[in-house]
Amino acid sequence: MPVIVGSVARMTKLEIKTVGVIGSGIMGSGIAEVISKSGIDVVIRSRSAETAQATKAAIDSSLNKQLVKAKITQEEKDSAMSHVTVTNKLEDLANCDLIIESAVEDLATKQELFSQLDKIVKPSCVLSTNTSTLPVIEMAKSTNRPDKVCGIHFFNPAVLMPLVEVVRPITASDETIAFANEFVKACAKDAVQVVDRAGFIVNALLFPYLNNAIAMFEAGTASMEDIDVAMKGGCNFPMGPFALLDLVGLDTSVAILEALHAEFKSPTLEPRPMLKKLVEQGKLGRKSKQGFYSY
Ligand code: 3HC
Repeated sequence: MPVIVGSVARMTKLEIKTVGVIGSGIMGSGIAEVISKSGIDVVIRSRSAETAQATKAAIDSSLNKQLVKAKITQEEKDSAMSHVTVTNKLEDLANCDLIIESAVEDLATKQELFSQLDKIVKPSCVLSTNTSTLPVIEMAKSTNRPDKVCGIHFFNPAVLMPLVEVVRPITASDETIAFANEFVKACAKDAVQVVDRAGFIVNALLFPYLNNAIAMFEAGTASMEDIDVAMKGGCNFPMGPFALLDLVGLDTSVAILEALHAEFKSPTLEPRPMLKKLVEQGKLGRKSKQGFYSY
């Protein structure tokens, strides 16, 4: 089993042998795949045995696609899968060195999880959240180890996106932040450091743009398709704003905008009516096969 050594291990005497991931959505599953490929054991906790198994199958299928394209070898795929365990019991995370919570973007749910985890995991375990915008400090306060709580925020699709934001609430110790950075490095991702403020770096800059794109469409300035073509061709963005909203998930996008609006108050951050309407209709983007576009 790989053990991360080096400056952080020397500084903190912590080792990362096993990481627990909570949540089996797009992010949880992608993060777990990244971890498994870095040779660290990952235990994915989902709410039901069925969704837990489905997550393992999704990782297997994603690795298979990479195998077919000769991006990884059979040995690499087998090795990654050998690091993946799934469960529907929080207690099975007891031996983890690090937890990444990637459950629904709801503060009460996350606080409850952090409070339970605090009682289950060993004292040295670092508890982190993949929240997009919610205050990490509120999760830290739900535990008796606020110094060992931070944000580790991956981007969608986690397997392809190189960036991870390491989010520092005022309660986190230097050791915890160093540990989080060393973990990100072990996952072959690039870390940036940010304080615990809604939207951190990326979402605080990205979501005003995405919301404005919807406002532009609502105002009849241009079609969705043309706005997407314009931002791809005019700015060299890999995706236009509507395709990106569908990728992120429209429910997640509403949650992010609401959190940004609550913190920064600007009316331009209020989720646009069209976005809210689509969510009310269950049109959540790619994951529900219908969002701004059909899939
Ligand atoms: N998982 C794994 N592999 C994927 C993938 C996924 N979800 N989506 C695409 N790929 C692979 C494809 O199989 C393809 O592989 P190939 O080159 O071997 O054929 C490769 O990636 C390129 O895919 P496509 O040709 O279909 O499409 P693109 O060239 O457009 O690449 C993309 C896809 C990487 C998703 C690119 O469009 C992109 O970078 N888009 C922007 C994504 C982005 O901005 N994400 C951040 C969102 S904000 C966020 O996550 C914050 C959170 O808090 C909400």
